[in-house]
Amino acid sequence: MNILVLGSGGREHAISWALAKSPQCDNLYVAPGNGGTSAIATNVAGLSAESGQDVLAFAQEHAIEMVVIGPEAPLVAGVADVLREAGIAVFGPNAQGAQLEGSKTYSKRFMEANNIPTARYKSFTDADEARAFCEELGAPLVVKADGLAAGKGVIVADTLEVALEAVDSCFSGSFGEAGQTVVVEEMLTGPECSLLAFVSNGKAFCMAPAQDHKRAFDGDLGPNTGGMGVYSPVPIVTKEEMATMYDVMETAAAATAKDPFTFDYRGCLYGGFMLTPDGPQVLEFNARFGDPETQVVLPRLQGDLVDIMYAVAQGRPEDIKLSWSDKWAVSVVLASEGYPGSYEKGKVILGVSEAEALDDVIVFHAGTAVNEDGELITAGGRVLNVVALGDTFEQAREQAYRACDLINFEGKQFRTDIGKKALQGRSAWE
Ligand code: AMP
Ligand code: GLY
Repeated sequence: MNILVLGSGGREHAISWALAKSPQCDNLYVAPGNGGTSAIATNVAGLSAESGQDVLAFAQEHAIEMVVIGPEAPLVAGVADVLREAGIAVFGPNAQGAQLEGSKTYSKRFMEANNIPTARYKSFTDADEARAFCEELGAPLVVKADGLAAGKGVIVADTLEVALEAVDSCFSGSFGEAGQTVVVEEMLTGPECSLLAFVSNGKAFCMAPAQDHKRAFDGDLGPNTGGMGVYSPVPIVTKEEMATMYDVMETAAAATAKDPFTFDYRGCLYGGFMLTPDGPQVLEFNARFGDPETQVVLPRLQGDLVDIMYAVAQGRPEDIKLSWSDKWAVSVVLASEGYPGSYEKGKVILGVSEAEALDDVIVFHAGTAVNEDGELITAGGRVLNVVALGDTFEQAREQAYRACDLINFEGKQFRTDIGKKALQGRSAWE
């Protein structure tokens, strides 16, 4: 089978790596891809991933039988709709389904209509009304730009002043069109947990849970990032919490296939949960695989990802069977100095093959490229995801950090405490 993956991050490297392992995978293309995908697939430069017509033209020219859409923007832009219309199997929901991520108001209404536990909220298109609701709720509270804002549109406000500033900033255009509608909600507390599920024809098949580390620096300090490290499974989650999260994902999947929200959801549904004292509540749904969650979830998946994704894409949930390795997976992100602020690119990266030579270590590339001299260089804020598997959580952590020490580039920045809190147990969050 010829397969096209859209995207360029560590998530897409991990997806491509898992697809490339399948004997069914003939030609694998990644558009645009990165320095890591170029070693296992053909990178396609210059293809506009958000244009359904461009992707369709490429797919027809290269006899592509399945397109896997990594990031949210092409999903929201309706690329899956165009491809399906032309008879090509697609892993990824249609534009309507992608609104679960593309509009926080839509997503909240979906949750409300299906009794999915989530923070109390209201949605506004008028700044004065939003401000009045902030005053009514009182701090702490959370202000969210409704649309896609590259992970930057959520402001957790400890004081009313910060919340009011966030409302003004949204309506004054800081997030463009995405901020012209604003969701204000109560602040929840507790550890976070991501649960991804394959969803097809109203059925959910949950993957293994994972926990991301969003802050830039050790001790959960510093600005929010796209994720600095992650592990799977998540030892601090109780059986009861896990059961509730499964139930939520199944309820959400079933709701995609019935009134009043019917849409064609064949792809990955990402549930972002907070484990509150009142039980797990949904912070957000995403219409795609998580990044960096995918980088620890897929290495633990046993079986053939081509089979699974093709069954999802063709709407054959009865053919989806998942099983998981007992190993623990820990991933540490190596980032460029200055990330998530501004950073330099083009630094030569050394030591990746030495790291990969360690037992049970995989290095997924995020922001890398290969220069004219054939050297691997940095090309983004998050550069590499160093993943290690281990029989115990500690072993996986130690091996991941051993591998991180072997890799060098100027300005290498990483957190040294990925997984540390989880080792201390649930009390570390109190
Ligand atoms: P979202 O894009 O909605 O998941 O928000 C991004 C991050 O903001 C989440 O992963 C949480 O860390 C935080 N967050 C979002 N909503 C809330 C909330 N209601 N209470 C506390 N933190 C939140
Ligand atoms: N790990 C957060 C996300 O993928 O949105």
